[in-house]
Amino acid sequence: MQKPLNNKNVLLGICGSIAAYKSPDIVRRLQDLGAEVRVVLTAGGAEFVSERSLQTVSKNKVHDNLWDAEAELSMGHIELAKWADAIVIAPASANTIAKLCHGRANDLLTTLILATTAKILIAPAMNQQMYASMATQDNLKLLESRNMVIAKPEFGEQACGDIGEGRLAEPTSIALQAANLFQNTQLGGKKVMITLGATIEAIDPVRFISNHSSGKMGMALASACIEAGATVTLIIGSISVAVESRAINIFVTSADDMLEAVMSNIGEQDIFISCAAVADYRPVNIAQNKIKKDSETLSIELVRNPDILANVCQMKNKPICIGFAAETENLIKNAKNKLKNKGCDAIILNDVSNSKIGLKSDQNEVFFITKDNCEKINITSKIIIAKKLVEKISEVLI
Ligand code: CTP
Repeated sequence: MQKPLNNKNVLLGICGSIAAYKSPDIVRRLQDLGAEVRVVLTAGGAEFVSERSLQTVSKNKVHDNLWDAEAELSMGHIELAKWADAIVIAPASANTIAKLCHGRANDLLTTLILATTAKILIAPAMNQQMYASMATQDNLKLLESRNMVIAKPEFGEQACGDIGEGRLAEPTSIALQAANLFQNTQLGGKKVMITLGATIEAIDPVRFISNHSSGKMGMALASACIEAGATVTLIIGSISVAVESRAINIFVTSADDMLEAVMSNIGEQDIFISCAAVADYRPVNIAQNKIKKDSETLSIELVRNPDILANVCQMKNKPICIGFAAETENLIKNAKNKLKNKGCDAIILNDVSNSKIGLKSDQNEVFFITKDNCEKINITSKIIIAKKLVEKISEVLI
């Protein structure tokens, strides 16, 4: 199952507050959502929670010292700042919050915050009067104005006996707010259907014709569309990748099944992305019984499968249609022909002759081609390619 923080690196910063005792649970909740978690513990934090507990739950060495030569050798502070997709400071003490406002860098956590481009979530936890103080309130407003997100503390009884606002937000809520950092509104409210994976065309009860498609590019697109605010329906052929649990998932086998599933659900869609590697031909007859090897040669007569993308493009009130072009030669020319012949709004071209990218690989390099535009997205992970494609789709086609 694909989870909201899959493939995301989250650095959890823990400051000096009694609520730090909840931090191993925060690590677990972030992991539940799919994150890889590393921990940075301030000197204050270490007064309330043990490094050993955090190392055990995070399965990574805890980082706690800016000046530790050995730690710097294994993963230096700049490397750690670059590793993180998000930094969550929970609990965030009044002191660390104040230091962040001034851009101080006198310990590992504050230095990392200056050195990172990651998204930042701050979960304050402190005595209710300290939280209500004008200084803390002004400081939090300043951090918000710098695009940091504040996970508001809760109201209730505090460790010191006071009752008020200042208790650390619940670990589950902090983890969900961390996942929300990755949401944007590029496809806000849109309905997107994506076909992905390979179709399987039966020859007899045990044999079939298919291809090497893994479904990785389509699944990465599904996650990127969901994170951009879309409701996503997936029509899934044969894949070797975890399924995106936040999508509506419909599983199919053959090209005919895929066509039927697409056509019965396409009516309400705003965008159709045809990422599936559909077999172009299927056997004319499917043998009822396993074919015996009686003869030296065997011919299987094939008939052309329906072109699913072209069918959608021909609809009267068609959605925005985006196809892929898997090419091995005359890349741009062939892709432009597909754009025109199938009648789609954009084609994403990839060179499937290059084994570093395409079908089974985790990486890809594509061209996003429309009637008036042809833009290259250089080789990178399919996850980043998917995000860039969603950006392009929202900029150029919506
Ligand atoms: N496609 C489809 N139905 C098919 C074949 C392809 O919907 N029967 C879609 C693919 O999902 C892709 C686009 O059409 O978005 C182009 O697929 P591709 O395999 O590159 O090309 P084909 O149309 O099959 O043409 P050719 O094999 O001749 O290159």
